[in-house]
Amino acid sequence: MLDIAFVKPALPRHGALVLPLAEEAALVGLAQAIDAAAGGAVARALAAAGFKGRKGQTCTIWAPAPEGGAAKLIAIGLGKAGELTADGLEAAGGAALAQVSAEREATVAAEGLAPAQAAAFALGLLLKSYRFDRYRTAEKEEDKPKLERVAFATDAAPAAKAAWAPMRAVADGVFLARDLVSEPPNILHPEEMAERCKELEKLGVDVEVLGPKEMRKLGMGALLGVAQGSTREPRLVVMQWNGAGGPKGKKASGKPVAFIGKGVTFDTGGISIKPAGGMEDMKWDMAGAGAVVGLMAALAGRRAKVDAVGLVGLVENMPSGNAQRPGDVVKTAAGLTVEVINTDAEGRLVLADVIHYCQDRFEPRFMVDLATLTGAIIVALGHEHAGMFSNDDTLAQQVAAAGKAVGEACWRMPLGDAYDKQIKSDIADMKNVGGRPGGSITAAQFIQRFVDTKAGPMPWVHLDIAGTAWSAKDLPTAPKGATAFGVRLLDRLVADHYEG
Ligand code: BES
Ligand code: MN
Ligand code: ZN
Repeated sequence: MLDIAFVKPALPRHGALVLPLAEEAALVGLAQAIDAAAGGAVARALAAAGFKGRKGQTCTIWAPAPEGGAAKLIAIGLGKAGELTADGLEAAGGAALAQVSAEREATVAAEGLAPAQAAAFALGLLLKSYRFDRYRTAEKEEDKPKLERVAFATDAAPAAKAAWAPMRAVADGVFLARDLVSEPPNILHPEEMAERCKELEKLGVDVEVLGPKEMRKLGMGALLGVAQGSTREPRLVVMQWNGAGGPKGKKASGKPVAFIGKGVTFDTGGISIKPAGGMEDMKWDMAGAGAVVGLMAALAGRRAKVDAVGLVGLVENMPSGNAQRPGDVVKTAAGLTVEVINTDAEGRLVLADVIHYCQDRFEPRFMVDLATLTGAIIVALGHEHAGMFSNDDTLAQQVAAAGKAVGEACWRMPLGDAYDKQIKSDIADMKNVGGRPGGSITAAQFIQRFVDTKAGPMPWVHLDIAGTAWSAKDLPTAPKGATAFGVRLLDRLVADHYEG
């Protein structure tokens, strides 16, 4: 991973010099020094290139200083000085990455930015630098990115470092989630994913792994029904970060906040098998679980003052002589029965048992689940928003605001009795599909049946991330592929409302 440093300004002897510039901003600090050394050539070159500091504008000046200095200077437009947002600075950092990845070292002349702004620029640059290289063995040396270190030159290095420290931990969580989601399904099956969760113990997270024996005891017939077609055993991983219970984070102090992830390490559809075209995408049907693991790493990594639990239900959905059939009736841990009409609607079956277990064991302050649950949410919202469903306006607003702040947008969708009727079964308490109309909503209704509000309110948000967990194109702060959607959003939710 890239080394990001915040240092006292000094002119670089080699590598690239990145210059973030707002519209009409004067050259200050290192930029001004280089310009002076070059007899005003930098300012003249920027003007000649028509560089005005507009958002998205870049301008490269080769060999800007007379001799023995940076090989190139890259100006990055930030837009109007009064309209700088964290999102915009992150995008500018992401844009800068592409311009410097051929150099071993880059210096960012950040004297014109406040410490938090410099850190946001750094975060965008770092997040954009993500690569999943584990299975490349024959890449040519010259095709590999060279960049190893980016130094941010700022007069407020200590303040920028302080702003950066928690962001670095969140970036680690994002990278972990992207790694998990990118792994091929022959490697990352439920047992392997549980092993990777175990690594969070190094950060001080308590990690418990339940197997089929424990799940049978708990009556998790819905999760086990999905898993039974696979030779891979299911796992339920319970991760606890107790950061509110004192500086050492040893003991939980009260009710935790809870995050639950769908972890279908591969979804063939089961007996209701999916068509061949694009089925390889279903390796990322564990992105909800990946986000929960990344989130727990982020919270622990930045020593968040919160008690949080993360639960992931890990299964592989396969067709086989032992697979569940359309028409089977399974009994959930909550005691409710489900008629399985379509074995491809498996995520909700997994979540039903994990959500019930979570509430029963932890009585959390709230529950947020993340799942690549329905293709229908992509039809409704495309790849621009995750679908949000909730029984609690306050929590829903908090999640929406946190998502907006970090560039992980959510759009609230409705719930209601009329939709709930669509999952009535003739022979069981419910069926697992509600037909084509409102497919994402009936999926959410199904999950809501396992959020118990009989004894009192239980705030709950369900995020359908089927359209946002993976991107077919490069994004401002992510290369194409796994996005880790949810890690930053939920970290921000915790930071803004549930810490301290
Ligand atoms: N994992 C899929 C949903 C999905 C589809 C995620 C496309 C990402 C991209 C889920 O398990 C599924 O198969 N859902 C079905 C539900 C249907 C059978 C009611 C779907 O969306 O078609
Ligand atoms: Mn499915
Ligand atoms: Zn699925």
